[in-house]
Amino acid sequence: MSAASTLFTGSGRLAMAQPHAAAPPATLSPWALLVRDGRVLWVGEPGDLPAEPDPDEVVDLGSVLVTPGLVDAHTHPLYAGDRSDEAAARLAGDPYTGGGILRTVAATRAASDGELVELARLRLDAELAAGTTAVECKSGYGLSTDEELRALRLIARAAEGLPIRVVRTFLGAHAIPAEASSASDYARTVADEMLPAVAVEGLAEFCDVFCDEGFFSLADAERVLGAARGAGLGLRVHAEQLARTGATELAVRLGAMSVDHLEQLDDAGVAVLQGSDTVATLLPAPALVMRDRLPPARALLDAGVSVALASDANAGTFRGWGQMPLVIGLGATVLGMTIDEALAAATSGGAASLGLSLERGRLAPGLVADLVAWDAEHEGAFALQLGAVRAQRVWVAGREVRPEG
Ligand code: NIG
Ligand code: FE
Repeated sequence: MSAASTLFTGSGRLAMAQPHAAAPPATLSPWALLVRDGRVLWVGEPGDLPAEPDPDEVVDLGSVLVTPGLVDAHTHPLYAGDRSDEAAARLAGDPYTGGGILRTVAATRAASDGELVELARLRLDAELAAGTTAVECKSGYGLSTDEELRALRLIARAAEGLPIRVVRTFLGAHAIPAEASSASDYARTVADEMLPAVAVEGLAEFCDVFCDEGFFSLADAERVLGAARGAGLGLRVHAEQLARTGATELAVRLGAMSVDHLEQLDDAGVAVLQGSDTVATLLPAPALVMRDRLPPARALLDAGVSVALASDANAGTFRGWGQMPLVIGLGATVLGMTIDEALAAATSGGAASLGLSLERGRLAPGLVADLVAWDAEHEGAFALQLGAVRAQRVWVAGREVRPEG
């Protein structure tokens, strides 16, 4: 049972993760945070605590670093099979063509519902145990109407009973299945057949397209995204990962909530995002695994673009579940962000990328009380310990979920 009201206190640092554009992330020390019915009621210095009826419970977290729950705004959790051999070959010089996606599609189609649910559940559980309390989950390893619908239904089943907030994204246009006669024909099936079925059953909140060289053209992507918008889904785009295609311009023009990857983005692309409402969701882990260029994080931040950091955990380019602490460290090291910017990008930035700014990603009155107590005293540990900062305790909506309270 969770208490109706809980007072959290600490003598250490509370990083509240304000979006970088609004203000530098406010960090309090010492701090107090009052939660009622799963939401933050008040946060501030202990001396300013408002006179309230006594809380049902007081939790003193001592000197450890406390942050909002992390928000991982880009993952692909529903797959079977193993492609580590492909990673090894790639690092020995094989080019990445993304063709390996079809290997995962074959393995996923061959797997039973039970197997897929169990695999996805372990992945979501790893995310939660590492301090991620909200996660976006894409389909995209099914590539037929039946298999894509199955994937979205199974993501929901995998999440049943897990206290992590799951946002589902339909990624039918992830690759061109072997049985399709062309990318355009398949994009038509995605737009005209799959999307209506996804929308009628309410299986996803977003639609995503891999708009890149060798995958879906700008015209194909526009067909799918236009249909998605018509069906009331939010839009996201895998953009500018393999080549600078103009997918960013398309995404902004269509009002996409997020453009993801952006390894090949140039100054003109940064200028297009500047002043738009589209969030740039950056994925440093797969870029490093692929020895790719890194996205221009510094230029995007300096231009005032909203930036999110996400894991892109998937079958073939980064299989790191529960690695958001590492992703924050990579943001602050190889991407040239400050620690405050990286932490905000992995919390309030992720929430903005998913349209959840009024629900998650910050510790502010009215938002859901997702909190993580880390085995660290200062947020600089995310860089200094690069991937080795552990979530000691995790609360979702004011209730302790790891270890279970
Ligand atoms: O986000 N870019 C396309 N999709 C995935 C890779 C998927 C795969 O190789 O299985 C990504 O990196
Ligand atoms: Fe991806």
